[in-house]
Amino acid sequence: MTVRVVIGTILIAATMAIVAFVMVNEPARMSSFESGFTGRSVEAGAALFDTNCAICHGVAGQGIENVAPALNAADLFDGSRLKSFGWSGTVKDYVRAAIAGGRPRASAAFAGYPNRMPTWSQQYGGPLRPDQIEYLVDFVMNWQTAALAQAPPPPVVDAVGTDLNTALPAGDAARGDLLFHGKGPGGQFPCSACHSLQAGQTLVGPSLAGIATSAAARKPDYPAEKYLHESVVLPNAYVVETFNPGLMPQTFGAQMTRQDMADIIAFLLTQK
Ligand code: HEC
Ligand code: HEC
Repeated sequence: MTVRVVIGTILIAATMAIVAFVMVNEPARMSSFESGFTGRSVEAGAALFDTNCAICHGVAGQGIENVAPALNAADLFDGSRLKSFGWSGTVKDYVRAAIAGGRPRASAAFAGYPNRMPTWSQQYGGPLRPDQIEYLVDFVMNWQTAALAQAPPPPVVDAVGTDLNTALPAGDAARGDLLFHGKGPGGQFPCSACHSLQAGQTLVGPSLAGIATSAAARKPDYPAEKYLHESVVLPNAYVVETFNPGLMPQTFGAQMTRQDMADIIAFLLTQK
């Protein structure tokens, strides 16, 4: 008799311990179940995206010029696009609404796209079921972290711009040397990746050996400083023969301060 009571007590205690253990771990188990579910839903969304959306938005959601905007873009996830539409809900609701209902009329922000965003949800006469819409929403939302991480750097204060009449401060050739070779401080430019300083060595662009001398002879009424300034901020204004226009980045005017430009010119003027 006493043995049975003891065994019974032990069994009850053991059962309670198991129940307690399961209860304590339930939230963790549920959330791992949910994230596993989101993972599968993202996969299903990827397949749907490939078939239905990539043709306009690009295989990686990067957008296609004149066809459809980028979806893996920082301005979608940081809320600035939503604001321009006066949308006060979450990004996820906005994405869901855009996919489900489409954009039968061009929105002001995307007036330049001649093709309309189709309606996708069966609810509004489109081809996809509600669960498929949710898969696509999860798939697009899955770009959020990467898209925000690649937000463009803040605009350069005191950028030199593309106006050649902008007055430049006195240049520091030693700092210009560092900037030219992508070593900073305070600014790194990939000039030396395309331009060798050894005579006759062509990388992507022409060698800049002797550029201080040749720059003065490029354009009749341009002193060397002005030609170098123009070559960097408006590379296509004069294209060195045998090279193609558009190879040199066209954005240095927005990326360099006036001091950076002055220092790089001072450095190039030492290459006699
Ligand atoms: C025929 C080309 C086309 C196809 C196919 C297409 N889209 Fe679009 N999509 C557009 C255009 C154009 C816009 C911008 C519409 C506007 O607001 O003027 C857009 C907008 C969107 C937006 C809103 C973007 C924003 O920032 O406002 C989302 C989200 C979106 N599409 C997702 C999808 C998904 C998901 C699919 C596939 C099921 C898809 N699109 C298929 C053309 C397309
Ligand atoms: C992606 C490659 C690339 C990068 C990066 C690049 N350039 Fe160039 N650069 C070129 C090419 C190609 C040309 C020749 C075509 C032309 O004139 O636009 C050129 C031309 C020039 C010229 C004119 C040379 C001459 O003989 O008249 C100068 C000066 C120059 N680059 C300076 C720079 C400086 C300074 C930087 C960095 C701030 C830089 N480039 C970055 C590719 C590049």
